[in-house]
Amino acid sequence: MSDVQEASNQLLDVNLCENQMSIQVTESDPRSESEHLQVTIGATVPTGFEQTAADEVREKLGSSCKISKDRGKIYFDISVDSLAQVHCLRSVDNLFVVVQEFKDYQFKETKEEVLKDFEDLAGKLPWSDPLKIWKINTSFKKKKTKRRKINPNLSKQKIDNGRGDTTVEKDVKEFTNSVSDSQTLDYYENPAVKEEVSTLIGDDLTSCKDETEENSKEEADPEVLKFRVTCNRAGEKHCFSSNEAARDFGGAVQDYFKWKADMTNFDVEVLLNIHDNEIVVGIALTEESLHRRNITHFGPTTLRSTLAYGMLRLCAPQPTDIIVDPMCGTGAIPIEGATEWSNCYHIAGDNNPLAVNRAANNISSLLTKIQVKEGKLSLGLPIDTIQWDICNLPLRTGSVDIIVTDMPFGKRMGSKKRNWNLYPACLREMSRVCRPGTGRAILLTQDKKCFAKALSGMGHLWRKVHTVWVNIGGLHAAVYLLKRTSQSFVHPSEQDGGRCPW
Ligand SMILES: C[S@@+](CC[C@H](N)C(=O)[O-])C[C@H]1O[C@@H](n2cnc3c(N)ncnc32)[C@H](O)[C@@H]1O
Repeated sequence: MSDVQEASNQLLDVNLCENQMSIQVTESDPRSESEHLQVTIGATVPTGFEQTAADEVREKLGSSCKISKDRGKIYFDISVDSLAQVHCLRSVDNLFVVVQEFKDYQFKETKEEVLKDFEDLAGKLPWSDPLKIWKINTSFKKKKTKRRKINPNLSKQKIDNGRGDTTVEKDVKEFTNSVSDSQTLDYYENPAVKEEVSTLIGDDLTSCKDETEENSKEEADPEVLKFRVTCNRAGEKHCFSSNEAARDFGGAVQDYFKWKADMTNFDVEVLLNIHDNEIVVGIALTEESLHRRNITHFGPTTLRSTLAYGMLRLCAPQPTDIIVDPMCGTGAIPIEGATEWSNCYHIAGDNNPLAVNRAANNISSLLTKIQVKEGKLSLGLPIDTIQWDICNLPLRTGSVDIIVTDMPFGKRMGSKKRNWNLYPACLREMSRVCRPGTGRAILLTQDKKCFAKALSGMGHLWRKVHTVWVNIGGLHAAVYLLKRTSQSFVHPSEQDGGRCPW
C-alpha cells in the first residue's frame, strides 16, 4: 500500500470538528473522496530562486506554477496523490496548503473594523479540503519534536541581520539542532522583505496556564486538536500589527473549530500571510524547513540546501560532469549536488581543516541516514573532500566542468580587505582548472564591488551571462553565472617563457 493510500485510510479516523458540522469523512469512502482532491500548495523558496523552483515543480510534478508578488513564494495546484512528491522537491523550504487566497483584499478604514473582518473571515473559509490534505500530510512529516515552552516575552524577537541594523521581527523558534546551529540558521533565515511575524494566539490564550494542568488535560481529551495561528505581514499601509491579526483571527478560528490553542505543541498551524493587499490563508504542511535535510555539523556560514540546489541547477549539470566547490565550508553545495546529481562527480575542498572535517562528518552522517532508511549498506556518494588552497588547486588545467561556490563575504568569514587579493586569485585559478569553451562557474557573494573589479580584469577568460539577486540573512547578495571563454589559460610562468608546472 502506498504512503498516500495508507494516509488516506487514516481519514477514517478523522473527525475534525468544523464548528457544529463535522467533516463526515467517516461516513463515506475516504479513498474515493480524496482521490480526486485538487488543492493549491504554497511553498516558500530562497528569494531570487522563485523561477528555479517553478521550473523544478513543472519538471517533477508537471504542474505550472505561479510566482507570488510576495517574494520567496510560489503556488501550484496538485492532486492528492502528488503530495508525497511535493515533499521531495529540492528547492522549497516550507510548504502549506492554501485555504483561500484574496488577491485584492479590501481593508476597512479603522483597526477595529479590520480586526472584526478577520474574526468574521474564520467561519467563512473553505477549510474542508485543505484539512483533509493536512491530515494525509501528517504521515509525511518528520517525527514531531516537542517544542520548548517559550517565554511569551520573548516570542517576538528583533534579529540582527549581521550588519547591525535590525530589519525583521520574528517569532522565536526552537531548533532541534545545537545552540550554535540556531545562531547559524538565524543568520540565513531572515526573510527577504521587511516582514513582521507573530504567533501570538498561544501567548494570549495559554501562557498563563500551568503546564502540568495542560498535560493532564491533553491526556484527558486527546481528540481535541491543538493549533496556533502565525501571521506574516509585509506592507506599509496596514493599520494593524501581525500580533493583533494573529490574536483576533486565531480567537475566531478557535471558536469556530473548538480547537485548543497551543503555541508550542500544536497539531495544526494556520498561516495568515498578508502582503500589502494580498492575503493568503493556509495550513502548514512542514514543521521545519526542508533546507535542513543534509547538514548535521553546522559551520558559521552554512548555506541552505535549497539555495545550494538552486545554484547547482542554474549551471545545468550533465552526466559525468566534474563539479567542484573549492570553498565548501560544511559541504552544503557538493552534498546537495551528490544527492541530486549522482551521475556527476563532486569535489569539496576548503583551506580550513575544521571546515573539511565538518564536510566529511556531514557526508558520513548522510550515508548513515541513507543506510538506515534503505536498510542496506549504502554504495556511497560520488563525492570527495580535501583540504586545499583555492589559489593553488591540485587539479589538472581544464579538467573541471563546473565550479559552484559560496565565497567569503568578508563579514562572518574572511574580511573585505582580504577579498581584494583573494577574489582575483580565485577567479584566475578557477579559470585555469575550468574547461575552456564549456566550463561554467556559479559564484555567490555579497562583496559585489570586489567581485566586479576582479572579474573586469578577466574578461578574456570569463563571460558573465546571468545574475540572480538573493537575500542571505538580510544581506543583499548576488549569484553570478559565468561561462568560461574558449581562450586557453596561460600561466604567468609560461608568459615569461617558463614551463607550466601542470
Ligand atoms: C562562505 S564560506 C562557505 C560556506 C559553505 N557554503 C557552507 O555551506 O558551509 C567560505 C569558505 O571559504 C573558505 N576559504 C576562505 N579562503 C579560502 C582559500 N584560500 N582556499 C580555500 N577555501 C577558503 C573558508 O574557510 C570558508 O569555509
